[in-house]
Amino acid sequence: MTLITTVHSYAGGVAKSATARDLSAALAQQGHRVLLIDADHQADLSVSLGVDVDEMFANADESFAQTIGPAVLGTGPLPDVHHVYGLDLMPSSITLYNLEKELKSDVSMVVGLRYALNEIRAAGTYDFVFIDTNPTLGDMATLALLAADRVLLPIPPNRKGLRAGSFIRSRVEKGHYHRLNPELQVLPPVITQAPNTTLARQYQAEIESLFGQILGVVRHRPGLYPTAMERATPVPVFDRGDGRAEIMAVADAFLQTVGAARVS
Ligand SMILES: Nc1ncnc2c1ncn2[C@@H]1O[C@H](COP(=O)(O)OP(=O)(O)OP(=O)(O)O)[C@@H](O)[C@H]1O
Ligand SMILES: [Mg+2]
Repeated sequence: MTLITTVHSYAGGVAKSATARDLSAALAQQGHRVLLIDADHQADLSVSLGVDVDEMFANADESFAQTIGPAVLGTGPLPDVHHVYGLDLMPSSITLYNLEKELKSDVSMVVGLRYALNEIRAAGTYDFVFIDTNPTLGDMATLALLAADRVLLPIPPNRKGLRAGSFIRSRVEKGHYHRLNPELQVLPPVITQAPNTTLARQYQAEIESLFGQILGVVRHRPGLYPTAMERATPVPVFDRGDGRAEIMAVADAFLQTVGAARVS
C-alpha cells in the first residue's frame, strides 16, 4: 500500500523542504520505495537534490512539462522521475507558478493531483510518497492536501511555529478537507530548527502537549544544513553524526506511527 504524506505549513522557512528531503532520504536508505514530489514553484527541494529544471530547460513549456503541472491540468502525464539518493523525484520549476492561476480559473483542478496520483497508488510502485508545498493556505496547499492520506507539520519551537501548527491541525480536524478527502489525518509533528534554549524547550513542551506526541526533534545546526544544501545532498547522506541520527530517529518514529516495518 502507498501512503501519501504532504509536508505542509503556511509559515515560510520552517523546514518543510528540509524535512521532506531528509525524511524521504532516510526512508530510502532503509530500503523503502520513496517518491518525492516538489509542488512548490520555488523548487528548493529539487535544487537541494541537484535537480534544477529551470537551468536544464531554457524554454518555459519544456520546464513546465518536467513538473506535476500537466498531470494536474489533465493536459499531459506525470513527469519522468529523477533517481537521486535512492529515491525518485518529480521536480518543480518556477513555471509551476502558472498552475496557481489555472487553479483559480477552474476550481475543479484542485483535485487534479489526487486523480493523477491514483495511477501511482494503483501501480503500487512506492511505499511512501511525500509532497512538499509552498508556504500558503491557498490553492496549491489545498491541491497537495486533497492528494494526501496524512499531513506532516514541521514546527520550530517558537511562537510562529506553534501558531501555524495549531491552526492547521484544527483546520484539518474540523473537517476542512474531509468532504473531498475523508482519509486525511494529521501526523504527530516534527520539531524543527530547535535551538538549545529555555524558551525553545517551553515551546516544545507546549507543542507536545497540544499534539499528545511528536515524531522527534531536529536541532538547529547552522554548520550542517546550509552546507548539505550547498552540496545538494540530503542530511542523512551528507552527515554521519548527530544530524543523521536525529533524522533516522524521526524516520523510525514515522514508520512506527504509520504502522510500517523497517526494511533493513
Ligand atoms: N535543523 C536546521 N538547522 C539549521 N538550518 C536549517 C535546519 N533546517 C532547515 N534549515 C535551513 O533553514 C532554511 C529554511 O529551510 P527550508 O527551505 O527547508 O524551509 P521551508 O519551510 O521549506 O521554506 P519555504 O517556506 O520557503 O518553502 C534553509 O536554508 C535550510 O537549510
Ligand atoms: Mg520549502
